[in-house]
Amino acid sequence: MKKILITAGPTRERIDPIRFITNPSTGRIGYLLTELAKKKGFDVTLISGPTFLKPPKGIKVICIESAKELKKVILRYISQVDCLIMTAAVGDYRPLRIEQSKIKRKKELILSLIRNPDILKEAGKKKRKNQIFVGFALETENFVKNGLKKIKEKNLDFLLVNNPGFFGEAKGKKVVKLIDRKGEIVDLSLLSKRKIAKRILNEIDNWLCK
Ligand code: C5P
Repeated sequence: MKKILITAGPTRERIDPIRFITNPSTGRIGYLLTELAKKKGFDVTLISGPTFLKPPKGIKVICIESAKELKKVILRYISQVDCLIMTAAVGDYRPLRIEQSKIKRKKELILSLIRNPDILKEAGKKKRKNQIFVGFALETENFVKNGLKKIKEKNLDFLLVNNPGFFGEAKGKKVVKLIDRKGEIVDLSLLSKRKIAKRILNEIDNWLCK
């Protein structure tokens, strides 16, 4: 049975005991991929950031909050899987310090943020020849050029590039492209999230069976 590690949802970076920085990722595509991969017969492990979604039954789920926690779990599991699908919306920054007490309200609060590690890039350095890594990227312009650069930088086999749809090059238009490391592009802009997830899993299946 082929093993897949799927990450989903946002990360959450603590500022103090009751405040944090996050992003609006719902985790939906990662949860759909989890459901469909299980139906297809894969052995699936889901690493999830905080979401309201319920994982499908019979799945091993590891809950994380911060990018640092996510990195630790991925690096622990990565050598054991055939495929990594990284849909998690990893926060690029975290507060330099986590305050132990609630920060008092004041006129102005300046937060110092530091870069989080690029987890997929670090995992990509450990990728074995027979493993498949898939990334997800949000872009507002130069979808293919930026996508191919990320495939190279992070040592990926596939990258799904999409846009937030409301600004940038393709204003108001949904753009979803699946790009592989050879530069082949499939336009999935007109498909539902479920169909996009199915398509990605078919590609993975084909590659793993080669
Ligand atoms: O560079 P960019 O954020 O566009 O790349 C997106 C891909 O990289 C996603 O698959 C995301 O999960 C992953 N990523 C990561 N660590 C980060 C930022 C993004 O693993 N700090």
